[in-house]
Amino acid sequence: MQNTLQHTALDVEKVRADFPILKMQVNNKPLVYFDNGATSQKPKQVIDAIAKYYYEENSNIHRGVHTLSQRATIHYEFARETAQKHINAAAVNEIIFTRGTTESVNLVAHCFGKLFIEKGDEIVVSEMEHHSNILPWQVLCEEKGAVLKVIPVNENGELILEEYKKLLSDKTKLIAVTHVSNTLGVINDVKEIISLAKQKNIPVFLDGAQAVPHMAVDVQDLGCDFYCFSGHKIYAPTGIGVLYAKAKWVEKFEPYQVGGGTIKTVTFDKTVYADGPLKFEAGTPNMEGAIGLATALNYINEIGLETISTYEDELMQYATEKLKQLAGVKIYGDVKHKAAVISFNVNNIHPFDIGTILDKQGVAVRTGHHCTQPLMQHFNIPGTIRASFSFYNTKAEIDIFISALEKAIKMLS
Ligand code: ALA
Repeated sequence: MQNTLQHTALDVEKVRADFPILKMQVNNKPLVYFDNGATSQKPKQVIDAIAKYYYEENSNIHRGVHTLSQRATIHYEFARETAQKHINAAAVNEIIFTRGTTESVNLVAHCFGKLFIEKGDEIVVSEMEHHSNILPWQVLCEEKGAVLKVIPVNENGELILEEYKKLLSDKTKLIAVTHVSNTLGVINDVKEIISLAKQKNIPVFLDGAQAVPHMAVDVQDLGCDFYCFSGHKIYAPTGIGVLYAKAKWVEKFEPYQVGGGTIKTVTFDKTVYADGPLKFEAGTPNMEGAIGLATALNYINEIGLETISTYEDELMQYATEKLKQLAGVKIYGDVKHKAAVISFNVNNIHPFDIGTILDKQGVAVRTGHHCTQPLMQHFNIPGTIRASFSFYNTKAEIDIFISALEKAIKMLS
């Protein structure tokens, strides 16, 4: 695998120089960008690759004998191979390009639901899911008369696996859970979740949007049936994402959308669809997005995911200790096993108010329900302040964030 390079110490100043936007001032203060969970910044290597595509290659793919079309096709398909290697999928045909995680969930809910969900069947999600990994399943259940079951979380924001076990029955047709919580950063024991599901032959869908930027993921080792992630959270452009689906599902599923690029032959009587991922990629695809994604994956593999996760863990520890020293701070999901996200509140101060004052001091965090309203309902809060880190963040930035936060608390108390 490409993403298990030897661990070496991260040279943060060197990597920061690759991200032009980090030099910006916001509200006359140096930008401290702690909203990486929402979207990551892009290194110049990715920006340059997209520009190069438009300067030198732009043309439609899979359709032309001319040189530019062939060149662009090769690069698009090479991007698929890069994504395959990155998550160690067994075959390149198991990689479907989508617009992102949300589209990937919708695709599987649509295709799986059409063939395999009937009245009375059950689909299991968890209480910590992003709305994108709830709503497509909820709609499917409503349409088919199936039932959505929910794995509860405990007070630390961890999935209660004893309760999960109790939900599994002959009626369970699919498990859809997140690998890492976007709101809490909690890393779920997905291997255990999959192993329990496998005992009953139930397929498992994993939302990897918040995992893939922070850790090496090996879908064969995990044994999941589906895995997805978004380009924009992993230093690539928006509008491109990856859905991994085991070959047997790629073969069984019917197209999700139909149109140019999805077919072998068309007559007014009958259409024969393409094999493999092209069946799901209707219309002119996002070529520059795929090329940008491959460049981003190569970029992080050059740094090494071991190096990235060790460095981000240090940032997490540092920030958590500093936050805990402030009176009135409550961290949600205060567990050891986390990925680059800290969610918290301060006394009864509204998260928006703190977020606004942090922004005035150049610090970008996300505030609100983070598209996880059921999780907010569990904690009985309207939202949290979420600081989410990347390997380009520094301890010095955490110090700026903490003193900006102290100022905000003083103003709002
Ligand atoms: N899903 C993204 C987040 O968690 C937008 O912020």
